[in-house]
Amino acid sequence: MNQTINLYYQERGSGSPLVLLHGFPLDHTIWNPLLPFLTPRARVITPDLRGHGRSPAPQGSYSMGLIADDVAALLDRLQVERCVLAGHSMGGYAALAFARAYPGRLSALALVASHASADAPERAQGRLDEAEQVAQAGTAQLVDGMAGRLTADPDLVEPLRQIMARTPRQGVVGALQGMAAREDANDFLADLDLPVLLVAGDQDAIIPLERTRALAARLQRGRLVVVPGAGHMPMLENPQVVAQALLELITQ
Ligand code: MLT
Repeated sequence: MNQTINLYYQERGSGSPLVLLHGFPLDHTIWNPLLPFLTPRARVITPDLRGHGRSPAPQGSYSMGLIADDVAALLDRLQVERCVLAGHSMGGYAALAFARAYPGRLSALALVASHASADAPERAQGRLDEAEQVAQAGTAQLVDGMAGRLTADPDLVEPLRQIMARTPRQGVVGALQGMAAREDANDFLADLDLPVLLVAGDQDAIIPLERTRALAARLQRGRLVVVPGAGHMPMLENPQVVAQALLELITQ
């Protein structure tokens, strides 16, 4: 483990440790609507990943393995040996990297509006070009482009835009570069002998439901929960359904 940073985090509730990793370029507050459902039964730990929220934004590319190392260092600090780990979108890519690097520390894994594939070469190049653009001109264009694609719920678009607008330029650049370089994890996940939950909104404009269905079909101990009417942010669009699915994972 090297170059890890001390992540900002919040911790609520008591019971089995449940660690929730937000997506790009968001922060831990996206999980807040789940807390009333989760905290009676779980110790819920919600970090801000490097470059996001109140965590530091060091220079360089944020590989998913490095983000996973930051999370492992946080768990060490909190004396959490094993947990259920859930990641939203990019947080899911990081959760997969964590599962690879620290298999003994997971009792179950959840991917919320996420998947296990690497970027196709043209997508990876697009991210690197975007990172260049953000480094030169700031995050406004990226934030405006993403805001409407995350959810179809008009009441959520502006709050999400505000979270993204607070993400520092270097955080966005580092995460884009790290996502562009991530490994494919489909075979790894198919072979994983752990309970795996996939949560997908049937209106997700970023990760199509068909892709998640195909992934679910390959899992040994997998379960797919489709959230009707939800887009890329099911934890905000239907928190109760997402929380219920996570609680079932804890009791497995
Ligand atoms: C996210 O929501 O974390 C990102 O949009 C995921 C991605 O760009 O692949």
